[in-house]
Amino acid sequence: MSAKLKSMLLEQLKNYTTRNVDIYKHLTNINVSYKHSDNIYEVNLSPRSKEQDVSDPEDESLMFQVDRNLVIKNVLDGIRHHERQVNTTPKKIVIEFSSPNIAKPFHVGHLRSTIIGNFIANINTYFQNNVVKINYLGDWGTQFGLLQYGLKAKNLTINDLKDNSIKTLYNVYVETNKLAATDETIQNEAKKNFSNIEQGTADLETWKHIREITVAELESVYHRLGIKFDQYEWESDYNGKAIKDIITLLEGNKIIYTHETGKKIARVNDRDVTVLKSDNATLYLSRDIAALIKRYEKYKFDRMLYIVDNAQTDHFNAVINIVGRVNEVCAEACEHVKFGRIKGMSTRKGNVIFLNDILDEAKSKMHEKQQQSKNTRKSAINKETCDILGTTAVIINDLKQRRKKDYIFDWSRALQTEGDSGIKLQYLHCRLWSLEKNSGAVLPDFCEPDLLDEEIIGDIVTELAKFDNVLQRAYYEQEACILVNYLFKLSRYVNRMFNEVKVKGSSDDLASQRLLVYYCVRRVVNTSLKILGVKPLYEM
Ligand code: ARG
Repeated sequence: MSAKLKSMLLEQLKNYTTRNVDIYKHLTNINVSYKHSDNIYEVNLSPRSKEQDVSDPEDESLMFQVDRNLVIKNVLDGIRHHERQVNTTPKKIVIEFSSPNIAKPFHVGHLRSTIIGNFIANINTYFQNNVVKINYLGDWGTQFGLLQYGLKAKNLTINDLKDNSIKTLYNVYVETNKLAATDETIQNEAKKNFSNIEQGTADLETWKHIREITVAELESVYHRLGIKFDQYEWESDYNGKAIKDIITLLEGNKIIYTHETGKKIARVNDRDVTVLKSDNATLYLSRDIAALIKRYEKYKFDRMLYIVDNAQTDHFNAVINIVGRVNEVCAEACEHVKFGRIKGMSTRKGNVIFLNDILDEAKSKMHEKQQQSKNTRKSAINKETCDILGTTAVIINDLKQRRKKDYIFDWSRALQTEGDSGIKLQYLHCRLWSLEKNSGAVLPDFCEPDLLDEEIIGDIVTELAKFDNVLQRAYYEQEACILVNYLFKLSRYVNRMFNEVKVKGSSDDLASQRLLVYYCVRRVVNTSLKILGVKPLYEM
């Protein structure tokens, strides 16, 4: 958003130097600090950014001292007129996230993957990359043989699964699992069932139905979070029959060999990893290897990101390592984007968590809170608002943490209205919107910086000028907390401005110019919330 400021500086620079200023044009870091005493801003441009391959010998930072008014005008006009940098080298980025398992609860690990993955997808889209969002659902493994047995034993048909399919499947699975613990015949039946599926000799119609119903239910939850996947993939798409060619390829390249136990083994970093069982049944690992190779054929991506928790580090190392030996370019493009665990998240219903339950819990807690609050306009309390507030709280509470850290979930902190929370950011957005609507002032087309001489405005413009840089850091480091913490800081400045700089009651020109500042702040908050995966509220 400070693209305008940057291009203004670069234009100026062209008049003074013969150095190649073009390299500073794209995705360049811009850092601004403000010195009240001298009425001067220091602006630093540097093209170096992680992952940016700038090998130009002149790629050092440029330091400018710029007149206060010039900065204010360029920053505010830039935001007012939606100036954006153009990404001249957009990339194809495949992002795989959420990826829960059928018949197992959508646990908090999947919740984090969903929230973080959505953020990473949004920020890549913001930077004009071509993003493909994939959800890779687990519908394979011996547990599905067990599930099949359970469904049959209980005489459950597809119709019985219509509502609440995920929970019903989960319950059947848990019950059958318990029975199987002491009953070997069930275990054997389950194994046989699964082997039939794996060998492609079972009737997969029921299975297809179960998948369809599950996706429909999941989609209603994703819809609540404003997430839409481009593609659902299934582990079962990579069953033994389907990936024969890949296994042959790995064998042909001597990447896997048959161990004396009959298993197919690969060496990865001096470790033996099993790729196929002795009966040639596929494993989580073999399916991922095949999925990756096939994805590359399909998408020819520049980057492939797996948003999956830390615990699967060895698994993804093995996947990428093995694929790298048949397709180096593909493996180079892959990254396991890891995150830590959340501890202590449970709902009133207990410990097993389904995403819907978490969101319902957040929503009902918000509802209670709203009703008790003195600040809330009672007319604004409705189910949708509470739902959005609840999801905002859960999302921001997660994204404000450093991605790789484990953290302890605390409902009261997530839902707090004071302090650094999602509720507070929504409240800020509403307050700015209401000021815009009720100020009576007219939003000007251009900034007249002479009218904006308050110190606090200087500080706020400094923050606004950093927005570009903040987004870039969040983007390169894949760390939403950089953006979230920026918003918390910005909101503290704006609260000061609310007290010190009034729009209502000021002369027309002054009111208009002040309104412009508030408007620009709201645009930045609005854009940020959307990137974070939150729907900005206008009234609460
Ligand atoms: N379904 C898996 C689980 O719940 C996560 C899948 C992650 N993605 C992958 N390509 N393996 O543990």
